[in-house]
Amino acid sequence: MERPLIAVLNGPNLNMLGLRQPEVYGRATLDDVEQVCVQAAERLDVAIDFRQTNGEGELVSWIQECRGRARGIIINPAAYSHTSVAILDALLAVDLPVIEVHISNIHRREAFRHHSYVSRAAIGVICGLGVRGYALALQAMTDMILDEDDQ
Ligand code: DQA
Repeated sequence: MERPLIAVLNGPNLNMLGLRQPEVYGRATLDDVEQVCVQAAERLDVAIDFRQTNGEGELVSWIQECRGRARGIIINPAAYSHTSVAILDALLAVDLPVIEVHISNIHRREAFRHHSYVSRAAIGVICGLGVRGYALALQAMTDMILDEDDQ
């Protein structure tokens, strides 16, 4: 049987990981994050489509492309979490399970980071656990897909 596809989408400035505020985000680069995801996907026997963009519209288009193609979306919308109704609407439109990931604990940070529009579309949110949050999200998403296939 074909492996289920999980989209792992990353928003603005995450291409700067490793260089960007290492005291907040750690030293891992976006390539390291992708490696964490590739290794987790191999272990879990799922396929992933790992992407990053700085553009809100591109993120919206990528979310739309997931409809009928992916079984779930793991998304770190970065700063757009706190601003983007367009990304929320796109996630609501695709009718797929969504897990929101943040590397840092947004609730320990500035008040404007405490609210995420995207969370309204998410089954769950993982934040503050560093890049391992992506592997945990892949584990949870795979469990949910297997549960759905069992029904
Ligand atoms: C982030 C948290 C956001 O508040 C911030 O704008 C980011 C990264 C995180 O992964 O911790 O760019 O999503």
